[in-house]
Amino acid sequence: MGVNVPRIKLGSQGLEVSKQGLGCMSISSAYGPLKPEPDLIELIHHAINSGVTFLDTSDAYGPHTNEILIGKALKGGMREKVQIATKFGIIDLGGKMEVRGDPAYVRAACEASLKRLDVDCIDLYYAHRIDTHVPIEVTMGELKKLVEEGKIKYVGLSEASVSTIRRAHAVHPITAVQNEWSLWSRDLEQELVPTCRELGIGIVPYSPLGRGFLSVGPKFIQNLPEGDYRKMFPRFQAENLESNKVVYEKISEMATRKGCSPAQLALAWVHHQGDDVSPIPGTSKINNLNENIGALLVKLNLEEMTQLSALADMVNGERHAFMGSTWTHSDTPPLSS
Ligand SMILES: NC(=O)c1ccc[n+]([C@@H]2O[C@H](COP(=O)([O-])OP(=O)(O)OC[C@H]3O[C@@H](n4cnc5c(N)ncnc54)[C@H](OP(=O)(O)O)[C@@H]3O)[C@@H](O)[C@H]2O)c1
Repeated sequence: MGVNVPRIKLGSQGLEVSKQGLGCMSISSAYGPLKPEPDLIELIHHAINSGVTFLDTSDAYGPHTNEILIGKALKGGMREKVQIATKFGIIDLGGKMEVRGDPAYVRAACEASLKRLDVDCIDLYYAHRIDTHVPIEVTMGELKKLVEEGKIKYVGLSEASVSTIRRAHAVHPITAVQNEWSLWSRDLEQELVPTCRELGIGIVPYSPLGRGFLSVGPKFIQNLPEGDYRKMFPRFQAENLESNKVVYEKISEMATRKGCSPAQLALAWVHHQGDDVSPIPGTSKINNLNENIGALLVKLNLEEMTQLSALADMVNGERHAFMGSTWTHSDTPPLSS
């Protein structure tokens, strides 16, 4: 196909990444049965060799196994070609989620991720969720020390409120904010995106394909295997599916008119949000990866963008199964308390 994947500056501190990344969560956890390790390593190598060098993982994916897989895939000269983004702070307590951002935890999590990835330095280290019991300045203080020690290069936040982002940025520059952003999840546009732009922070949209819905429609939901955590998501429940499937149908119709796939159209909408945005679609398949790279060639005019943006008004159900852990609930206590 020969798409030249552009490079962009993410944030204002010097990090350069591919304009599209690879979300690695679902190849080790969360979405259905796993493929054999050699196939997954081949997928990661194919991404890197195609110019998709921004790899997104977390210690929570697996947990741990996704970082180990990436560590294995980066052996033999691949490390220098990629930007590794990983995250700390989510601990799965058997269905219940604990969030940690205290300094001792942050340090221990970073050391453990470095070991699993088998690298000397993490390029971009995110707080995966905000620990609302710890002032964000305290969490950031430890992250700043990790930067000074050379263990991480840049700092990011995922699902953080405007106030948390501003307070964190005052301690040490935030390079990227990672949040769900797709044509059916636009809650960040009013406040979070303008704040990131004002502060020179890059934006990394996660689940840009609506966890698969915007690329294949409701049919994947009928056959979700046990353990696929999308079963819990409000938008995929029967009572919401009837209206939500219209969103997919509209995307599909426009994609047919434009001669691209629904996945490419949905991703192109995200790419058109700006040059400070690098979405990280997840896939376990080389063919889908190639298709997603092809989204970089899809051009949308203002009218098409407006039509696609309006689809979010038709969506039924919250975007996340755990809204209590998203940016709307991420303010932390003041430093003095
Ligand atoms: N910060 C956070 O809290 C957070 C939360 C969720 C996700 N993330 C990150 O964001 C990444 C992406 O999110 P996501 O995986 O939840 O959702 P997504 O990227 O919106 O969708 C992934 C799903 O779409 C399917 N897909 C991908 N390309 C396709 C194509 N061209 N045609 C048809 N189907 C296609 C994949 O299936 P196949 O495998 O069959 O291609 C997979 O089921 C994750 O890997 C993770 O790194 C971060």
